[in-house]
Amino acid sequence: MVLRSRTAALLLAAAFLLTATVACEFASPGQPSGATQKPSRWGTSPVFTPAHASAGSAIKEFFGSHPEPKQPFDFSHKIHLSKGVLCTDCHTGVEQGAVAGLPSINTCMICHSQIATDRPLIQQLTKMSEAKTDLQWQRVYDFVPQSHVRFDHAPHIRAKVECSTCHGNLAEQTVATRVVKLDMAYCVNCHKSKQASNDCLTCHY
Ligand code: HEC
Ligand code: HEC
Ligand code: HEC
Ligand code: HEC
Ligand code: HEC
Repeated sequence: MVLRSRTAALLLAAAFLLTATVACEFASPGQPSGATQKPSRWGTSPVFTPAHASAGSAIKEFFGSHPEPKQPFDFSHKIHLSKGVLCTDCHTGVEQGAVAGLPSINTCMICHSQIATDRPLIQQLTKMSEAKTDLQWQRVYDFVPQSHVRFDHAPHIRAKVECSTCHGNLAEQTVATRVVKLDMAYCVNCHKSKQASNDCLTCHY
């Protein structure tokens, strides 16, 4: 019963959000919808922006259609993993906490102040580091704030779920690409099979 009323509340909240934002779009078509919203991963306001030609394209983003991000540097997972560099050398938080962490240019320079310094790309990297320009990585796997998802890496790593289960084989990727569809069904099915909690509030806030 408790679960059913939570379900109803969450669905209601989702329906309300959608209606409210759609209504907002009709009220002020093509306008950014309010200054209080956090910027989304595309660097614009989350749902309705001038970048969305129509309510349709905004709704598509709302339901998880993910355009390929454009990264600020020609980075290759493949090269690093083939040289035996570990995920945790760059994603230092992944075993301890919720967030894996994306490397700052200082992390790159721990190695590249010595390694491969004769290569043009590393010289470019060194120049950026000297100019104190950091690398603004675009997110690949993330959720729109409207889905109110809470994810935590650490319990998965403790439970020995492989990175590749959720992110594919990075040894075959240059920059990361969204090869696994991390939608709700994917989470819930595994939780069911591993007897992990499927309470709505395990994954939603
Ligand atoms: C059970 C699925 C799952 C596993 C296993 C997993 N991830 Fe993730 N990862 C996610 C999800 C979901 C997100 C997006 C979370 C968000 O943005 O709220 C994410 C985001 C990330 C990010 C970017 C955001 C951040 O947390 O810094 C990195 C980097 C990352 N994962 C690396 C790894 C590495 C390295 C491993 C293995 C040690 C790993 N992941 C294992 C599901 C997983
Ligand atoms: C733990 C050490 C380590 C870290 C941290 C690291 N790298 Fe590397 N990187 C290497 C190694 C080892 C190679 C392979 C060098 C070789 O070919 O001999 C490499 C190769 C490269 C190359 C290819 C150079 C070429 O043209 O052949 C680029 C580009 C590069 N790294 C960029 C980065 C960036 C950007 C970061 C930070 C996000 C980073 N690296 C972090 C160790 C590291
Ligand atoms: C040498 C540093 C380095 C190593 C080693 C490394 N990564 Fe990354 N990773 C990065 C950088 C830089 C990015 C940001 C650019 C991109 O998206 O590819 C990134 C991005 C990611 C993302 C996308 C996160 C998001 O949501 O934006 C995932 C997932 C990921 N890495 C997983 C892994 C896994 C799994 C391993 C080990 C098998 C690994 N990485 C090893 C540097 C590294
Ligand atoms: C391949 C299996 C698998 C997938 C996929 C998966 N999980 Fe999990 N998840 C687990 C396991 C196993 C645990 C650990 C349960 C435990 O420690 O008792 C866990 C734990 C969690 C926890 C911590 C629960 C707690 O009680 O502290 C959260 C939050 C979570 N998962 C969210 C997610 C989300 C969100 C997704 C999808 C993006 C996801 N999981 C995908 C297997 C998975
Ligand atoms: C194991 C994790 C997990 C559990 C448990 C879970 N969800 Fe989700 N849910 C997710 C993830 C991850 C997404 C985002 C999927 C995406 O962006 O594609 C999501 C999306 C949603 C959405 C859609 C919002 C949107 O972005 O379109 C609704 C509504 C929702 N969940 C309701 C529920 C309800 C109700 C329950 C309890 C019966 C529940 N969820 C339990 C992980 C979970």
